[in-house]
Amino acid sequence: MPKLTIDGKTIEVAKGTTVLEAAQQLGVYVPRYCYHPKLSISGNCRMCMVEVEKAPKLLTACSTEAAEGMVVRTDTEKVKTARRDVLEYLLINHPLDCPVCDQAGECGLQDYYMEHGLKPSRFPQEDKVRRQKRRAVGPHLVLDNERCILCTRCVRFCEEVTKTSELGVMERSDKSFIDLKEGKALDNGYSLNIADICPVGAFTSRDFRFKQRVWFLKKTPTICLGCATGCLIEAHHNENAIYRLVPRPNAETNTWLCDHGRMTYKAVQAGDRLSKGFIKNGMIELEPALREAAARIDEAHAGLAVIGSPWLSIEDNAALARLAKDALKTDNFCFEFNFEQGIKDGILINKDAAPNTAGVKLVKAAHGGVSLEELSRRIMAGQIKVVIAEARAAGLISTALKAAGTRLIVFAVNRSEIPDLAYATLPYASYFETPGTFINYQGLRRRTEPAVTAPEGIKPLWAMVNKLAAYSGASLRLDSPDDALKGIGR
Ligand code: SF4
Ligand code: SF4
Ligand code: FES
Repeated sequence: MPKLTIDGKTIEVAKGTTVLEAAQQLGVYVPRYCYHPKLSISGNCRMCMVEVEKAPKLLTACSTEAAEGMVVRTDTEKVKTARRDVLEYLLINHPLDCPVCDQAGECGLQDYYMEHGLKPSRFPQEDKVRRQKRRAVGPHLVLDNERCILCTRCVRFCEEVTKTSELGVMERSDKSFIDLKEGKALDNGYSLNIADICPVGAFTSRDFRFKQRVWFLKKTPTICLGCATGCLIEAHHNENAIYRLVPRPNAETNTWLCDHGRMTYKAVQAGDRLSKGFIKNGMIELEPALREAAARIDEAHAGLAVIGSPWLSIEDNAALARLAKDALKTDNFCFEFNFEQGIKDGILINKDAAPNTAGVKLVKAAHGGVSLEELSRRIMAGQIKVVIAEARAAGLISTALKAAGTRLIVFAVNRSEIPDLAYATLPYASYFETPGTFINYQGLRRRTEPAVTAPEGIKPLWAMVNKLAAYSGASLRLDSPDDALKGIGR
């Protein structure tokens, strides 16, 4: 456990800790470009240089191991001059793109220049080395070689995280540039992380480019519902529209995000987003749709069934369970889904594509119910006239529904989700618009937070269940998600 001093403060750190990490533990920020806590150390940018007593020259903090008795200074004139020189060197060949660069506002060059540089360039503009400008490299990224500072974070990400090694540094000296290796495409399922870790505007997201200036974006911490991993994310939004999802790095689950998860926000503002109801293929206002669905429920009497959904929150599942048990007084309900869970690619993507298989177990424990197989059997036996379900969960028993010609009342967010055999479709607020509790494959309980508001009149699913019950004359009153959760252990 070496003990060292950084800027006059003493700290004891674990063996193997670097000076940069030790400084970080003390709250001393050392500027860096090539260093990334989850990638190997490259030590190529020289931005993190510090003065170490008795060392003949400045040392890179990211690649120097903390040693007993070391005395480090990060704020001397020598260090400040070195930082200015590194910035001047990096900016010699950097294009004057800031006004049209999508990285502006979160660019490592802009920020450090204002903090540590502020030195006019001594090189005439016409001497700059020109490199290739924007070009698409893979489905999600655009690469602008002229903006690259050759920190190699992108290369190391592809070598060490996805292990797909698509990128390399080509040529030598000031002719060096990042490029795809021959025969490779940047489509490894995690490629958008490269836009996050590139400290400048060299790699940018094709989806996000030029949609918003980053200083207009508000940030809402929430979770990804793209699979059972349940990564922590931040939704970046402005004027009721989401523009991107980025990771909220955490020790338990994720540093990165997969490309599929990053795109899950699109459903919320897709052209087929439901703001009205459907009866068969005809769109109608929400209230008449609810009335029609309720009339079919009343007509079915004892022949009703309700299915929970691993794509819904615990609150919304609980509301469906109470609809079945307390309002419709049926025992034809299922809250049991046994999808295999676990990371399937060694990085993040889960074998289970549903985000709340573990959470639904709590509803099952509180309310019971039958298995999916038993419910399918009852449907096939003609005992069920109407099934109430969330659209994707309805897909799990579609064979039985088709064979028996059972009427289906579904809750859906987008038109594309509606199964062919749906009789009535009722819209509900997505989890980018309403809070909900989910339990991921590790058993961690997490909540979504609303980043945007739902289309007018569209309520969370538990509230839609409440309305449906009211229209059908069933005795159920849910004024809040807590009402739905009654009887469920916390
Ligand atoms: S493209 Fe970005 S991440 Fe890759 S080497 Fe250049 S600056 Fe670094
Ligand atoms: S791994 Fe799963 S939870 Fe994480 S970002 Fe991808 S889809 Fe979302
Ligand atoms: S951060 Fe240390 S050399 Fe780049």
